[in-house]
Amino acid sequence: MSMKASMIVDKDFTIGEVDSRIYGSFIEHLGRAVYGGIYEPGHPQADEQGFRADVMELVKGLDVPIVRYPGGNFVSGYNWEDGIGPIEERKKRLDLAWRTIEPNLVGLNEFMDWCRKANTEAMMAVNLGTRGADAARDIIEYSNIKGGTYWSDLRISHGYQAPHNIKTWCLGNEMDGPWQIGAKTAAEYGRTACETAKVMKWVDPSIELVACGSSSLTMATFPEWEATVLEHTYNHVDYISLHQYYGNRDKDTSNFLAQSMGMDRFINTVISTADYVQAKKRGKKKINLSFDEWNVWYHSNDADRKIEPWSIAPPQLEDIYNHEDALLVGCMLISMLKRADRVKMACLAQLVNVIAPIMTANGGAAWKQTIYYPYMHASLFGRGTVLVPLIKSPKYDAKDYTDVPYLEAVAVHNEEKSEVTIFAVNRHLAEALPLELDLRSFGACQVTQHIVLESDDLKAANTIDAQDRVKPHNGGNAAVDSNGQIHATLGKASWNVIRLKLA
Ligand code: AHR
Repeated sequence: MSMKASMIVDKDFTIGEVDSRIYGSFIEHLGRAVYGGIYEPGHPQADEQGFRADVMELVKGLDVPIVRYPGGNFVSGYNWEDGIGPIEERKKRLDLAWRTIEPNLVGLNEFMDWCRKANTEAMMAVNLGTRGADAARDIIEYSNIKGGTYWSDLRISHGYQAPHNIKTWCLGNEMDGPWQIGAKTAAEYGRTACETAKVMKWVDPSIELVACGSSSLTMATFPEWEATVLEHTYNHVDYISLHQYYGNRDKDTSNFLAQSMGMDRFINTVISTADYVQAKKRGKKKINLSFDEWNVWYHSNDADRKIEPWSIAPPQLEDIYNHEDALLVGCMLISMLKRADRVKMACLAQLVNVIAPIMTANGGAAWKQTIYYPYMHASLFGRGTVLVPLIKSPKYDAKDYTDVPYLEAVAVHNEEKSEVTIFAVNRHLAEALPLELDLRSFGACQVTQHIVLESDDLKAANTIDAQDRVKPHNGGNAAVDSNGQIHATLGKASWNVIRLKLA
């Protein structure tokens, strides 16, 4: 097998516009995401509201357009009213989802303040586990109505004169999962989601709604769940959600890195199912996809089982990410870009401490995990139009996947900036992959940057004592030859960002 790959892209062969919201993330009231993550009043870098400035800085570095809140499993037992009003009067509650105590020091208004400071928007979830349409219509009235009603005037009395105008709302979370508080059958959820969606849009017709899809590709009810839920909700919702986490439990990195092919299949099946319902309804509207939980998650599983229940903000789901995790995160980002025509929102789960690109020590430092980098590169350079990638690559067979291309890649054209950016992973663990890039109708161009994330140790991670062990460098060798052909060598097991300036 010859280790050589090629990729052709053409200006006129496009997949779709990137909706910047695919670079979203997630903050749940879980572990140290809120308390000790975005919020820690006693920290030397806390601002007047208790938000950590060092964490804010790292969040801003990612240019995150939307952040899902307040859960996750947490939302299915949450009374949103517990998080409003004077902080000193707020009640502590048991959180049955994560078996902790929720102090309610941060709630809707504080989170919206944090969003404004972080230059991001909220994707708010309502509780369809223990609650339903009634609580959902109240929270939207509190958040989005100007004034002159009980809930909107209450918001004003809490010091928020202007409505928050939250545009994007999730109708519950993972309602198909037996672990969920108030889990439902597809028909039960479909009916509840439909009726909740109706009243929420009656309060504010400008909002967009996300119905819960399956909690993962491996759920026994997938994809029947999506079909039934959308048959009930088609006229009232705009998106269907997808959630997927991967791990390298078998210590088989070639198989681990192939898992984004499962994500491709997941996305394509949900699109087909949504389109099937559209056809059945004789509908005009396309239901788009919100991949609102995705990541690697498995490192912390054992430690989490040992945590004593009923404490405040214990270190839950604190995966320490290594180099190979960053490669899979890169492949997953490419998977979503390849369906930019239908994946319109996505949330890397989560943002701080809890399976997150940003880690903190209580009272101490904040630093970047390995997965921070591919996520940041895609968010900063992956805006524009995705081009159809015609790829020729050598392939391998892994335990669960056949014909896995060593090259995983996609190209994004940013017309405004006259730039094309190629995101590429070489899945080969031992050999470099020479790549030939043909930009066809784009004509002449120049390589402005070839960023590489690589490491001799697939298990190398960034920790509090070695915060920069894995970090990208600008030393890639992409170059244009005299015939205008672009050549690059992708190092073994590497993530690459090749930035091209068009003439
Ligand atoms: O992101 C962590 C958890 O994973 C979320 O609370 C839940 O929705 C999913 O199972």
